[in-house]
Amino acid sequence: MPFDFTRRRALLTAAGATALAATAAGSAHTAPRSSPATRRPAAAFPEGFRWGTATSSYQVEGATHEAGRGPSIWDTFTQQPGRIRDGSTGQVSVDHFNRYKEDVALMKSMGAHTYRFSIAWPRVFPEGRGPANPKGFDFYDRLVDALLAAGIEPYATLYHWDLPQALQDRGGWEARDTAEAFGEYAAHVAGKLTDRVRQIFTINEMQTFVEQGHETGNFAPGLKLPPGRLNQVRHHAVLAHGLAVQAVRANGRRGTRVGPAENIATALPAIESAENVRAAELATRELNAPYLTVMMEGRYTDAYLARAGRDAPRFTEHDLRIISSKVDFVGLNVYAPSQYVLATETAPGYVTLPFPRSHPHMASPWLTLGPEALYWAPRHAARLWQVKNIFITENGASAADQPAPDGVVYDVDRVMYLRNCLMHLQRATAEGVPVRGYFLWSLLDNFEWADGYATRFGLVHVDYATQKRTPKLSAAFFREVIARNAPA
Ligand code: FCB
Repeated sequence: MPFDFTRRRALLTAAGATALAATAAGSAHTAPRSSPATRRPAAAFPEGFRWGTATSSYQVEGATHEAGRGPSIWDTFTQQPGRIRDGSTGQVSVDHFNRYKEDVALMKSMGAHTYRFSIAWPRVFPEGRGPANPKGFDFYDRLVDALLAAGIEPYATLYHWDLPQALQDRGGWEARDTAEAFGEYAAHVAGKLTDRVRQIFTINEMQTFVEQGHETGNFAPGLKLPPGRLNQVRHHAVLAHGLAVQAVRANGRRGTRVGPAENIATALPAIESAENVRAAELATRELNAPYLTVMMEGRYTDAYLARAGRDAPRFTEHDLRIISSKVDFVGLNVYAPSQYVLATETAPGYVTLPFPRSHPHMASPWLTLGPEALYWAPRHAARLWQVKNIFITENGASAADQPAPDGVVYDVDRVMYLRNCLMHLQRATAEGVPVRGYFLWSLLDNFEWADGYATRFGLVHVDYATQKRTPKLSAAFFREVIARNAPA
């Protein structure tokens, strides 16, 4: 084994067993006949539910100059002083490019069924378009083969924000041409990989890369565009998604499944009543108007177009048909609620409540605590758009991980967060919301964008100086969840 997960896990299980024994001894009369740990949990997920972890190319691969990879906008952005909190880059990161076998073994030891990774567009098309780089594809071939050999099903994301710099130089997402280039790239990947990769996600979190990259300028390419140009970027992102769906259908092996992986902005009913639930649905539909809503409904909402006014995107009916190309599933990245709402009798039918200053969050300030989002996000998607297959494509938490004297990170806060999220997600599946699987962000600590390496999201701790991987308590927790198919 590449690490002492098993031994440490045995130790943790022993501690758990001791605790259970103590409880039983303290209440001899009422001791249950079968121990809670051996009973089939009442709150289980449906049979066949798929469990796995997620990563993305720029965040884990490193090797940015190896095997003919071209530069991406994140290579450029991280070179600019002041952009990244700790001044770091993804040049080496956790070296997944070279250590993928060890990482696949880590997944296997958790009992994972699936792995969601992303393909670096500039690794396979160094210039964005034009000649493909076979050595770039070799890496994904090796990775996919290693996964399949370990019994882990690969789910590939085509775009997790690392746009080839060459395309940025020609206008980036402001240029319609970039959406078309994305379609061509998707066609090529589908032709190469769908003999083994049967599930493809188009774009990861449009909402984030568009807004952080083109409105606040916190992420690559670091732009602060005025509203009209920003809306055009939004339009090109959803158009690119639609073109990729069509390209995968046209060039992938029969039966390849494709859909987005979007961070749905989720409104939650502040109190669960029929009126407030409806209000939360209305608010969610509007919050996602230029992203999931147009993808699912094939039109921009009236309220969005009215709000945008003269700054509305330029589009044709034909664009809308491409954007709303039928998908096989919808991936939802869900970390936190966007807002709590109450119903109103006057338009628009809901009012958004301000978050009190005391509302708790995880280590990242944006990670507002609200595990009910794992119930409401998929439920809203199923009700608003009759989505039949949903994956939670990301969920996870940052924590101020500190290895204990024995070298292990006992991240009880992350475990608490995950357990609560999973309990709410389980409620959704128990009520028939069609969630088919869950990808935990993330397998490993990695390059967390503008936070650099200061913020850790992994189930496995990485010592960045030595690349040593050490599973945290949360890795043992996730293994238990998968084994029970239930929150643990
Ligand atoms: C999501 C991103 C992912 C990672 C997590 C913490 O928004 O998709 O790359 O940064 O947040």
